[in-house]
Amino acid sequence: IHIAIFASGTGSNARKIINYFAAHPQIQVTLILTNNPSALVTEVATQAGIPVSVFTREEFYQSGKVLETLQQHHIQWVILAGFLWLVPHNLIQQYANRIINIHPALLPKFGGKGMYGMRVHQAVVENKETHTGITIHLVNEKYDEGEVLFQATCAVEPGDTAEEVAHKVQILEHMHFAEVIEKVILKNVY
Ligand code: GRF
Repeated sequence: IHIAIFASGTGSNARKIINYFAAHPQIQVTLILTNNPSALVTEVATQAGIPVSVFTREEFYQSGKVLETLQQHHIQWVILAGFLWLVPHNLIQQYANRIINIHPALLPKFGGKGMYGMRVHQAVVENKETHTGITIHLVNEKYDEGEVLFQATCAVEPGDTAEEVAHKVQILEHMHFAEVIEKVILKNVY
């Protein structure tokens, strides 16, 4: 089964996923896509021998180029790991219920447009939440509103900074994302 990962940040989740499926070859990370040619993930991919496709905003929203690239590589599932642009209709339609995102909070709390990165963790701290965590969900045409597949939680202690919360959440992401992807995909196949 061929999957593609969209990643535009540090790519730490993409790296975990690449390494995990190198040892679980029923699923193959076939392609990495990014809108940020200097994203660290491009190096991770190159080291792993995985091709990288870079695209612009115009190419993403106003042409079929990204979809064509996915189809050329026979991609069956799409993973968003630190990718912030809203996915356009043509991709959602072609990959209906086959696009998976990870969000660094317990949706429906702290989601939606503009809620990403440290902003999420700052909001969690300001709101005096006692828990936060991760949400792995299917992607639809609205930010962070697709069906929830998996959540894991961690405690927020009084006095925790946003950075400390971010660290705890990242540990959960690295622990769970690849395995959840595997379970969801294989359950849909067999
Ligand atoms: C993660 O926190 C993920 O939840 C969010 O973007 C971040 C990506 O981090 N969607 P990395 O680039 O994988 O390190």
